[in-house]
Amino acid sequence: MTQDYQSGVIAEQNRDAIFLSFNQTHQPDAQARVKQVLSGLPQRVELLRNQLPDVALHLTVGIGSAYWDSLSPDSRPALLRGFPALEQGGRVAPSTPTDLLFIVRADQYDACFELAREIAEGLQGAAELVEEVHGFRYLDARDLTGFVDGTENPQGDDRLEVALVGDEDPDFAGGSYLHLQRYEHDLSAWNRQSLKEQEDAYGRTKVDNIEYPSAEKSPHAHTKRTSLKRPDGSSIEILRQSMPYGDSTRKGLMFVSVCRTPENFELMLKSMVEGDESGQADRILEFTRAVTGASFFVPAPSWLKRLA
Ligand code: HEM
Repeated sequence: MTQDYQSGVIAEQNRDAIFLSFNQTHQPDAQARVKQVLSGLPQRVELLRNQLPDVALHLTVGIGSAYWDSLSPDSRPALLRGFPALEQGGRVAPSTPTDLLFIVRADQYDACFELAREIAEGLQGAAELVEEVHGFRYLDARDLTGFVDGTENPQGDDRLEVALVGDEDPDFAGGSYLHLQRYEHDLSAWNRQSLKEQEDAYGRTKVDNIEYPSAEKSPHAHTKRTSLKRPDGSSIEILRQSMPYGDSTRKGLMFVSVCRTPENFELMLKSMVEGDESGQADRILEFTRAVTGASFFVPAPSWLKRLA
C-alpha cells in the first residue's frame, strides 16, 4: 500500500523552505481554480521527486480552518478549529487566519523555488499571496538564538503516531492538524544575556545541547513550560517542523506544529503565554514575539486528488 499522507508532515528537517500563505480571491472561477491546483499537486510533487531524487523535496498543503467549509461544505475534520489567540502580561499569540498554506521544502533551494513558482503561477488571480517567507537550516539545526531546535521531537514511527489522524476520524485518516506562527526575535536583547541566562531560559545547555536535570529547571524554562503530561502520566506530544528565517530587517522562527489533535499545541501555547498555576510564563517570550498565528488541516493526498 502506498502511504496516504503528505510527506512534508513527517519528513526530517530540510536545508531550505518556502512558506506561502494565500487567501482566495472573489473572482467568479476562483474556487474552481483553487481546487484544480490543489488536486493536481500530489501528482506534480511525485513527478518532481522522481526527477530530483537527491534533494528530498516535500510539500505540505494546509487548508485554513475558516476556509475549510467553503472548499468542502459536506465534511470537516472533527477537531478543526480556529487558532487560539492569547494575550497575557505583554505576551501575545495573535490569530491571523489565512485560507491556504504551502510549505515547500528541499535540500536544494532551486527545487523549492521551482515548486513554489508553479504553485503561485497556478493560483494567479484565484488566490492572493498574504505572506512569503524563506526558511533555512541554521548551523546544526539551531534556532537563531543559538540553541538546537527539535531534539525532543518524536522519532521513527512515533512521528506518524503523534502527527497523523488515525481511526478516530476515518474520513480524515492520514491528515494532520497544523499550527503556524511566525515569531520575530529580538536577537540584540537575547545576545546581551549571559550564557547561563540563555541556558536557564531553555532548560538546556547551549553548545552541547544537554537537558538540565528536572529539579534544576526554572518554572519559566521553555522546556518546562512545554513538556506537559496528562493526569494519567502520559506525555502530551506534538511534532515540530519549525525553521529559522531572516534578513537584515526581521528574523526569527517559523514555528510549525503538526499533530493528530489540535489540543496538544493549544495546551502548550497556553502554558507558555499564561504560565503555570502561579502565572510563571515562558522566559523565551521576553525575547521573541509571535506576529502571526493560523490553524490548518493538512489532508491526505487522496483527499486533495478528489477535489478535481
Ligand atoms: C523545545 C525553541 C516555540 C514546543 C524547544 C527547544 C528549543 C525550542 C531550542 C529545545 C530543544 C528541543 O527539544 O527541540 C523554540 C523557539 C520558539 C519555540 C525559538 C519560538 C520562537 C514553541 C512553541 C511550542 C513549542 C510555540 C508549542 C506551543 C516545544 C516542545 C519542546 C520544545 C514540546 C520539547 C520540550 C521537551 O520535551 O523537552 N523549543 N520553541 N515551542 N518546544 Fe519550542
